[in-house]
Amino acid sequence: MPRIIVLGSINMDLVVTAERFPGPGETIAGEAFRTFSGGKGANQAIAAARMGAKVAFVGAVGADAFGADLVAGMAVEGIDTTSVATVAGVSTGTALITVAQGENCIVVVAGANAAVDGTAAAGLVGSGDRLVAQLEVPKAAIAEAFAAARAAGAETLLNAAPAAPAVRDLLPLTDILIVNETELDLIAGWIGADGGDARTCARSLLAAGPSTVVVTLGAAGLVAVTAEATIELGGHRVVPVDTTGAGDCFVGTLAAGLSAGADLAEALETANAAAALSVQKPGAAPSMPRAEDVRAFLAGRATAGAV
Ligand code: RIB
Ligand code: NA
Repeated sequence: MPRIIVLGSINMDLVVTAERFPGPGETIAGEAFRTFSGGKGANQAIAAARMGAKVAFVGAVGADAFGADLVAGMAVEGIDTTSVATVAGVSTGTALITVAQGENCIVVVAGANAAVDGTAAAGLVGSGDRLVAQLEVPKAAIAEAFAAARAAGAETLLNAAPAAPAVRDLLPLTDILIVNETELDLIAGWIGADGGDARTCARSLLAAGPSTVVVTLGAAGLVAVTAEATIELGGHRVVPVDTTGAGDCFVGTLAAGLSAGADLAEALETANAAAALSVQKPGAAPSMPRAEDVRAFLAGRATAGAV
């Protein structure tokens, strides 16, 4: 089976739940505090591994307890963590997350994630592999690794989150771009592409490099475009508990599906279902579903639809 190499961030998520978000200058009483493993890169790696993919994660942690816990947690998922660097003198990445009414507000401190470079990922990627990145590690690292992936005959997937103007330089090296609506609008603005609805806007990004652009629409599902086709899927109606990491779940599951030989439409359908499952559980990485859960969910939906 070809490998998925995820180059990205790994964070300890420090999560408080409250009835509502505080305003600036306001103090409110929260309900609970928990820590969860997170970071967009690690979340995507775990989502892919739980779908049965062969995954290697490339990233960096600080020489602290959070870092050791996070890396051990990834190894338990069967992920190859030999290319995770431990960087002296900086903290492991952290995300301060407030969850209220099923929505979240996040402040991320990059810490060791800012020290990630592209060398290890460039050395790992081989023909037929998929290299997956997000924008929580330095752009130069992604550019180096994506160029190596291209040269090796691997496919590159970029989840341009959080959106940053640096994405412009990565688009020519990207095969599959995955963004949400906010990221889509920002990127279209930065590259001077046509605005309009998600479908039109996504189509205009094809000219910048990617052969596939996928736009996740939250509860409304997704739209994906290639030169030949447009795929639209509605969202599954579920009651969200915590949407943190839902986009990561989608990306990791999509990569896993493609690596297992599914076509784009099938892989998108599975990823859409997996994301709907992830929002029903608290936390980022711990809420990633397993392949059998996704299969059961889709089978249940098909039966319900047939009645
Ligand atoms: O996408 C969700 C993730 O973003 C969280 O796990 C947090 O760590 C931030 O990186
Ligand atoms: Na979740």
